[in-house]
Amino acid sequence: MYQRLCLILFAAAATAHTQPQSHGSGHSCEATLSSTPTFDYSNFTYPQISLAKTKPVSNEITPTPAATYALHYSDVSSQFDNLSSTTWPNWTPAFPLPSQSDEANPYGNAALTNLWQAANPVNFTRGIYSTTVSPTPVPSTELVPPPPLYFTPESCYKFPKDFIFGAAGSASQIEGAVADEGKSPSLQDVLANILRSGGPVGDYGTGEHYYLYKQDIERLAAMGLKNLYLTIPMTRILPFALPGTPVNSQALDHYDDVINCLLEHGIQPNVGLAHFDTPLQFYGGSSDYLLNLATLQSSSTYGIGGISFGYSNETFVDSFVNYAQIVMARYGDRVPLWNTYNEPQIGCSDGVAVNNVLVAHARVYHYYKETLKGKGKISMKMGITPAVPRDASNHSHVEAANYFSDLYSGALLRPLALGQDYPQAFKLSVPDHVPLSQADLEYMNGTMDFISLDAYSAPVVEPVASNLTACATSYNKTTNPYRNFPICVNASSTVPAADGDWSIGYSPYGSPTYYDSPHNLRTQLRYTYTTYKLPVFISEFGLSLPAPPGGRLQDNLFNQPASEYLLSYLNEVLKAIWEDGVDVMGALVWNWADDWEFGSFAQGFGLQYVNFTTQERRYRRSFFDVMGFVESRRME
Ligand SMILES: *[C@@H]1O[C@H](CO)[C@@H](O)[C@H](O)[C@H]1NC(C)=O
Ligand SMILES: *[C@@H]1O[C@H](CO)[C@@H](O)[C@H](O)[C@H]1NC(C)=O
Ligand SMILES: *[C@@H]1O[C@H](CO)[C@@H](O)[C@H](O)[C@H]1NC(C)=O
Ligand SMILES: *[C@@H]1O[C@H](CO)[C@@H](O)[C@H](O)[C@H]1NC(C)=O
Ligand SMILES: *[C@@H]1O[C@H](CO)[C@@H](O)[C@H](O)[C@H]1NC(C)=O
Ligand SMILES: *[C@@H]1O[C@H](CO)[C@@H](O)[C@H](O)[C@H]1NC(C)=O
Ligand SMILES: *[C@@H]1O[C@H](CO)[C@@H](O)[C@H](O)[C@H]1NC(C)=O
Ligand SMILES: *[C@@H]1O[C@H](CO)[C@@H](O)[C@H](O)[C@H]1NC(C)=O
Ligand SMILES: *[C@@H]1O[C@H](CO)[C@@H](O)[C@H](O)[C@H]1NC(C)=O
Ligand SMILES: *[C@@H]1O[C@H](CO)[C@@H](O)[C@H](O)[C@H]1NC(C)=O
Repeated sequence: MYQRLCLILFAAAATAHTQPQSHGSGHSCEATLSSTPTFDYSNFTYPQISLAKTKPVSNEITPTPAATYALHYSDVSSQFDNLSSTTWPNWTPAFPLPSQSDEANPYGNAALTNLWQAANPVNFTRGIYSTTVSPTPVPSTELVPPPPLYFTPESCYKFPKDFIFGAAGSASQIEGAVADEGKSPSLQDVLANILRSGGPVGDYGTGEHYYLYKQDIERLAAMGLKNLYLTIPMTRILPFALPGTPVNSQALDHYDDVINCLLEHGIQPNVGLAHFDTPLQFYGGSSDYLLNLATLQSSSTYGIGGISFGYSNETFVDSFVNYAQIVMARYGDRVPLWNTYNEPQIGCSDGVAVNNVLVAHARVYHYYKETLKGKGKISMKMGITPAVPRDASNHSHVEAANYFSDLYSGALLRPLALGQDYPQAFKLSVPDHVPLSQADLEYMNGTMDFISLDAYSAPVVEPVASNLTACATSYNKTTNPYRNFPICVNASSTVPAADGDWSIGYSPYGSPTYYDSPHNLRTQLRYTYTTYKLPVFISEFGLSLPAPPGGRLQDNLFNQPASEYLLSYLNEVLKAIWEDGVDVMGALVWNWADDWEFGSFAQGFGLQYVNFTTQERRYRRSFFDVMGFVESRRME
């Protein structure tokens, strides 16, 4: 009896493995509830656990079917007649750019050297590579899936046929080659200056994806990945940032090749413009940014009113629009999805910055739709996502959640998605906000095609003050020199419980901002869809996991808590779609590989482990699990 049951269970496990859609316990509860167990000493034999050597999804790589999302560059190139293009050699502190005799040229080698010397990247390192690496096929041994997960969501819901599923990464966190082929210094290279210490050899090299992209794309395609968020830095395309300065033709060719390579491998590119990598020019050469960034380490200055990403500079809007036009005109025909900004809330130090982000976004949107006749979709990634109340039965907590959501995402989304003025929470808290006229609102209205949420963990909030209005209007900046505006609600990491406060969820680093709380995602999806009435896209989600003690690679690759996080979040997405009627467009896992997480190489977000000494990549089990979960549940 026991043996027979075992055989059935193992058979079920093996089936579950080859056909991930049959995840589940495989035996009925009713049958065991109505009987008592029988015990028996029948002869013992060892059962054989057979793991089917198949991948969770097909590894046939087929190019993305040809589709055109906007006018081809040749149709609009006359607009760029006056744009000069050039190339620059690599820079290093030891060997500044050659031909320094071109000092008279404001955009020559000497000028680029000056930018880098002013940025002063401390302990600058080059990576291993300095030219594009030819790809090699992924060995079939790497594509052997892990043993099936013991627990997986059992819901029967499926993902819509066109559900966009993939992964994400950003240039400054994964490309390396920071001073190569004409790239000028960005904010991230200065962050590097402050925060990169004690890391592995080649800190500035990060994942060296700039040179390894062919191999990386090959590896992603071999796992069946179909969508990738990548970012194109302004510092590569326009090293001198301002309109009228020369465009870097090597950078244009590079991303042309990256995009074509993705499409040839069946992967749709989803392109982000600004991703925390503002050119240093917008800081006016002052050392204020260093001060700002230093405080980032010591105090929690995220959110509107904290750290500056340079968006409030008077030259920023025209420069950003100019850069966006160049990039969209070049690649718009092949790119279906665009994001203008990554998490702008994180770097808007004042009301002017918020206004500039809105104005620039709206101008880019109009350019894309009207001049390029773009049929793709445009959004902006929300870094601080809508809040959920700590105690939903307490009115003051609900008020605090609404206040928080309005302050951080409503300030951007109400004008852009709905054509509505800034919410009251924002107007009260940010006295230097730039008033929006009726004409501004008409121009901005409808310039979001979908709402992007970087949905790691929902902020769970409670009020700090009993009267939010009084709190917002009586802020004394002297007592908090690093934050320009008040925050009258508090994100909490515990839920109220009758007998003490439990954590909101599993938090591998003990961080109140990163924890596993799938049920809150469903609330956020409903809130967002109901409030803004646009499809919702999970532009990033993922769990950062420390390397397991002992340093064994096999333990590092077996990142089960990340799989559980990803599958439970996706299961909430299914419920949001089928039970709540929320149009969830898709979801992207952060990150497709381990990356530089602003000071750390050890966050372990990757669907692939990266050995930063050798730049070797290895698939983690979460990659197999999440691809299997989604692709086996996709509607025909
Ligand atoms: C157990 O194994 C022994 C030796 O092979 C055999 O003689 C016996 O019949 C088996 N008993 C049962 C219940 O299968
Ligand atoms: C290019 O520059 C010329 C001379 O400055 C100007 O007349 C013309 O309008 C410019 N063309 C475009 C497309 O900007
Ligand atoms: C630069 O390297 C030196 C020598 O290894 C080290 O002492 C110093 O802390 C490093 N500085 C930074 C900012 O990483
Ligand atoms: C704004 O940026 C420009 C360069 O684009 C720079 O010259 C100027 O100094 C900056 N202003 C401030 C206040 O930093
Ligand atoms: C509601 O929340 C506020 C603020 O946290 C708290 O002071 C109050 O006691 C709560 N009320 C109830 C009924 O729990
Ligand atoms: C924004 O545009 C939509 C769609 O055109 C329209 O229904 C709505 O009334 C506009 N909102 C405002 C505040 O004008
Ligand atoms: C909250 O504070 C504001 C401004 O100080 C005041 O006008 C309002 O009456 C207060 N509301 C309550 C309910 O106390
Ligand atoms: C702000 O706080 C400082 C330091 O506590 C105090 O000296 C100052 O009077 C306060 N300003 C106002 C307007 O309350
Ligand atoms: C905010 O919450 C944190 C814990 O999440 C707590 O330590 C802190 O005291 C709270 N601040 C206020 C003003 O309630
Ligand atoms: C990374 O590569 C180096 C060099 O081959 C090796 O010594 C080290 O053990 C690798 N790290 C892991 C975790 O495999």
